[in-house]
Amino acid sequence: MTPGARREVLGTDQAGTPGPGATSAAPDNGAMAGGVPTDDAPVSGSLQKGAGGGNRAGAWQPRREVDPVALVEEAGDSGDEVSLRPRALQEFVGQGQLTEHLQIVLDAARRRSQPVDHVLFAGPPGLGKTSLAGIVAAEMGVGLRITSGPVLVRTGDLAALLTDLHEGDVLFIDEIHRLHRAVEEVLYPAMEDFKLDILIGKGPTARSIRLDLPRFTLVGATTRTGLVTGPLRDRFGFVGRLDLYDVDDLHRIVERSAGILGVPIEPDGARRIAERSRGTPRIANRLLRRVRDYVEVRAEGRITGATAVAGLDVFGVDELGLDKVDRAILDALCRRFSGHPVGLTTLAQCIGEEPDTIEDAYEPYLLQQGLLLRTPRGRVASGRAYRHLGLAPADGMLL
Ligand SMILES: Nc1ncnc2c1ncn2[C@@H]1O[C@H](COP(=O)(O)OP(=O)(O)O)[C@@H](O)[C@H]1O
Ligand SMILES: [Mg+2]
Repeated sequence: MTPGARREVLGTDQAGTPGPGATSAAPDNGAMAGGVPTDDAPVSGSLQKGAGGGNRAGAWQPRREVDPVALVEEAGDSGDEVSLRPRALQEFVGQGQLTEHLQIVLDAARRRSQPVDHVLFAGPPGLGKTSLAGIVAAEMGVGLRITSGPVLVRTGDLAALLTDLHEGDVLFIDEIHRLHRAVEEVLYPAMEDFKLDILIGKGPTARSIRLDLPRFTLVGATTRTGLVTGPLRDRFGFVGRLDLYDVDDLHRIVERSAGILGVPIEPDGARRIAERSRGTPRIANRLLRRVRDYVEVRAEGRITGATAVAGLDVFGVDELGLDKVDRAILDALCRRFSGHPVGLTTLAQCIGEEPDTIEDAYEPYLLQQGLLLRTPRGRVASGRAYRHLGLAPADGMLL
């Protein structure tokens, strides 16, 4: 493929829709990323087509207040997810060990005037992986280009992005575990030696040439570390794992967001929202917005402990942060299968969801809360789940 052809890939990609590198952004200092027109926010819209929407869009209807994946209007330009996003490591609440390590990695790179080592962020949706990618670029004062694994269909898509990078830029690949195999292989020499191997011509006259790439930083994000192949994982200098947040951290996040949104909130109100946010900042922010709506209409616009609880009840989010679907999962395990172990696929069919969705979106929190157990023979509900649903435990079950 010639360099001319590479341009074409970018230009003609998916007629009319932005190419894989279309979401690009400048850091606050105004530097341009890769010469492509930029949004003014570090992270925005079209990324979510690959991340939450796109080929999984159908699975997310109807909307859930406690969905950890961004809803379209939150990710898009009109939503305020962008404005609530922490821009600097200082603003990033919680994940103490991860942020400490990352700070050291960034400081060290700055001292040596070198680009940061490639970084992989792993963890469930809504915990701050995309925010951290933006923070890495902003802290280093470099450009940020955003794409996602499933969007890069051909090797040329990635090649076009790579050759368009400027020295030091951050290339963020969301859902990196969903990269196509052939595309992933282009990444290996790019990450390791900053070289791009391209094949020119076809058949016996074909020859391969090596192009130099600028030294860039790859930031990958994945919800499934287990699915990132060994060779790819090995090429990251730093792997940061994000854990679900505790209530204290979520409390601080809710207060920070309320401050940005200008909503009067009492500590008790922030606490109630934090408790029901399933360990996930994105959900905390969403519940905050729902409660804000509620108090504006039904109370005097002030979030107190009582108005927060009333608002959350209206939206069907219970004391543990479970919504209808979560309760449906537990209900199926407790009642329909009477405490017998159930396979993931069966469970998924039973409540009309995709197995992946259950595993990625619902299970982490149910497991963390000790409501659901994974056994070699299948999923079972715990005694706590029975109590939460107000049911008597099944005969002979482990409590
Ligand atoms: N540590 C944090 N401190 C404050 N807000 C956070 C934090 N982590 C996430 N958020 C909020 O949650 C939202 C979702 O975070 P995001 O980085 O998009 O998560 P992910 O990419 O892991 O799905 C962000 O817009 C931000 O408002
Ligand atoms: Mg993200």
